[in-house]
Amino acid sequence: MWGGRFSTGPDAIMEAINASIEFDKRLAPEDIESSLAHAEMLAETGIINLPDANAIKQGLEEILAELEAGDLEFSTALEDIHMNIESRLKDKIGEPAGRLHTARSRNDQVATDFRLWVRGQIDLIDQNLVNLIRALLDQAQSGISWIMPGFTHLQTAQPITWGHHMMAYVEMFTRDRSRFKDARARMNECPLGSAALAGTSFPIDRNYTSSKLKFARPTANSLDAVSDRDFALEFLASSSICAMHLSRLAEELVIWSSAQFKFIELSDRFSTGSSIMPQKKNPDAAELVRAKIGRILGANIGLMTVMKGLPLAYSKDMQEDKEQVFDAADSLRLALCAMEGMIKDLTANKESLEKAAKSGFATATDLADWLVRVLNLPFREAHHITGELVRLAEQLECDLSDLELKDMQKVHADITEDVFTVLSIENSVKSRSSYGGTCPEEVQFQIDRWKKELE
Ligand code: ARG
Repeated sequence: MWGGRFSTGPDAIMEAINASIEFDKRLAPEDIESSLAHAEMLAETGIINLPDANAIKQGLEEILAELEAGDLEFSTALEDIHMNIESRLKDKIGEPAGRLHTARSRNDQVATDFRLWVRGQIDLIDQNLVNLIRALLDQAQSGISWIMPGFTHLQTAQPITWGHHMMAYVEMFTRDRSRFKDARARMNECPLGSAALAGTSFPIDRNYTSSKLKFARPTANSLDAVSDRDFALEFLASSSICAMHLSRLAEELVIWSSAQFKFIELSDRFSTGSSIMPQKKNPDAAELVRAKIGRILGANIGLMTVMKGLPLAYSKDMQEDKEQVFDAADSLRLALCAMEGMIKDLTANKESLEKAAKSGFATATDLADWLVRVLNLPFREAHHITGELVRLAEQLECDLSDLELKDMQKVHADITEDVFTVLSIENSVKSRSSYGGTCPEEVQFQIDRWKKELE
């Protein structure tokens, strides 16, 4: 491509370090799409003539068909996807192919292709997230009043409902959707026409290409447009947060499916067996989803490190932006699908959830609140008295609700029979009716709200 200036070809090592075709071939559809828009604009503005533009269009469409049929061959000597496509176009249509690169550079070309690609991934991920949220909503609905222990420090804290727990993740994944949406809106500007770095002297129409490629507007500074990758970083940051949420849910699935907890059973479709221990059913999919954050966050840190300290405008360092983003997007989408499958298929064990909620003095806070409300004690004193009652129950190896009234009265004489109404986990859950609380009516309200939102 630059034979005019060079007398020998590159060293094999030079070619190996320089070529990106092995991975950026994934940008082929976007590269063709942006070239089609560019060629059309060049004809529209009279920069190239219509017959040339038509030849280019026809040639690019044939290349797209070859790509889709798996017949398009790539060459390392041609370095990257942009030169591979241009060279194939030349094979097909000859001289007019050389006019396609008028008023553009690979710098604005790759920035455009990559934005198109990331934007497309965001749309796919959004659908994956919606599917997962729907599965969580279904789980929440079917166990809306099932009682389970809520934890802090993974110690039994207060009784909550299965529906409430599921809905916590609906909130998280919905925020993930909105983060991707925000990132999408910011990246949705078209770099094409920024050329190498300074813009071009040709009378191009940047609005034309921008709207053709469904961008909101052209980028406003050509240096910025060819040299920032913050759109990819925002994508990776949003992906990392989403992967972190997935990782927490996955961890809960791992814990809950253990023989010690038995809160849920994962389906056979999303579990594996052990080659040596016949009794085992392992939550491998959940473990792998838990782990995906490693490579996704790694990509985020990796690209941030590549970008830091780069002077404006384009530097070849930036070719290192793609592989990690590709891998992160693939990993996130797979993890979201696996999580959706696990959530859809799993069976929650109502009895085990309830049994666990009844152990560990989960209603101790309700008892303390009763002492405040009925006996008008200061909360700190109520806390102390409840602590003594918990210790008593521990000594007698029973639950708070199994204590006898006369034993309770030894700790505080004014306690009455009425206290037992708050010691049941059912009443405890029912009483948590503040907005966003765990009582089934509140949870139902949230389920309905999100269902409507998704319609
Ligand atoms: N393959 C290159 C990349 O991904 C395309 C841009 C090359 N630009 C250049 N000035 N060498 O970054």
